[in-house]
Amino acid sequence: MQKTPSVQVPTNNLAKDEEYEGKAKIIRVLDDQNLLIKFKDDLTAFDGVKKATKKGKGYLNAQITKILYAYLEKQGIPTHLIEQINETTFRAKKLRMLPIEFVIRNYSAGSFVRRYGLSKGMKLKKPVLELFVKSDELHDPLIDPSVAIELGFITRDEYELGKLYSYLVNEFLLQLFDHIGLTLVDFKLEYGVDHEGKLYLADELSPDSMRLWKKGTQESFDKDVFREDKGEVIQAYEYVYKYLQKAKDFQPTSPRFRIHLLIRLKQGIVDAEGAVVKRALTRLGLTQLNEARVGKIIDLEIVATNIERSLETFSTGRTEFLINPLIENSEIIFDV
Ligand code: ADP
Ligand code: TMP
Ligand code: ASP
Repeated sequence: MQKTPSVQVPTNNLAKDEEYEGKAKIIRVLDDQNLLIKFKDDLTAFDGVKKATKKGKGYLNAQITKILYAYLEKQGIPTHLIEQINETTFRAKKLRMLPIEFVIRNYSAGSFVRRYGLSKGMKLKKPVLELFVKSDELHDPLIDPSVAIELGFITRDEYELGKLYSYLVNEFLLQLFDHIGLTLVDFKLEYGVDHEGKLYLADELSPDSMRLWKKGTQESFDKDVFREDKGEVIQAYEYVYKYLQKAKDFQPTSPRFRIHLLIRLKQGIVDAEGAVVKRALTRLGLTQLNEARVGKIIDLEIVATNIERSLETFSTGRTEFLINPLIENSEIIFDV
């Protein structure tokens, strides 16, 4: 029988005191809600095919992740990071990781260039989000969001919120890196869910998981230096760390996002307005029309200064006054 490749994230099955050694980090579970993440000096590329150990890499990635997560937390993005234990180790929230990588691209590079036959370095009109299955065995295939939801890899809500956070993280990081003379070409994010179902940005955010070019050039300050043998990778990471340290007080302009609140009559509730629309359209010749139902959209534009707090307003049922819960349903759609 053919072996079914697994898309289980290995850390999702760890019990207390158990350890998982991945390609770049070691995870040790402390209890139901806490784990330790130790950043290693190991570097891998092409699904672990190319390997090296570079002294100081773990330290640099831990520091860079810490700076970027602290910056994002300040902007209201929830991250798994709790505290730094030592130079290469963090305590973080133990999460059920989604087996999906969220990749945002601002310029064409890497697999995007290969997949679509593009030239490298094309600025995309709008940032692009791509989802990949987190599986070395399957070589991290691209997956359509509807398929990821259908196969149960992520729920619709996890996808919608992950998408919103990913675009907002991009807006915040673009500004920060621009401030230190680097262009954020693309990056990968991972998310996990805690015991209460809350979504957090997890894993790491470092030059291992993003592409950074010196502004106006294609000179890499990320893992491409190692992937493509373009010089001393540690020097590139040190450069990023050094300049990020200098930008600790950087204040970004907050991006805006929209929430569309779709309000519909529940199934089975008689819709008088819908009946009028149906009659009118049928009279116009749309005899194939089976049913018309009329709802309402409330469009909200929100300044992303405290995203978590903004979203809490909607998740705690306090917006029920906007609908009549006896006869109406509401659905939230994010738009960045
Ligand atoms: P890989 O598993 O691809 O070799 P790493 O060496 O970076 O990668 O291992 C880190 C593992 O820990 C990844 O599988 C990642 O999804 C997982 N992970 C990251 N943060 C958390 C968290 N807060 N809770 C549970 N698992 C996590
Ligand atoms: P890609 O161009 O190879 O698809 O990569 C897009 C971005 O995602 C790039 O910044 C590197 C990052 N990435 C990871 O962090 N881990 C991975 O396994 C892959 C494939 C990409
Ligand atoms: N993250 C993958 C690996 O470490 C792929 C890559 O970065 O090229 O092998």
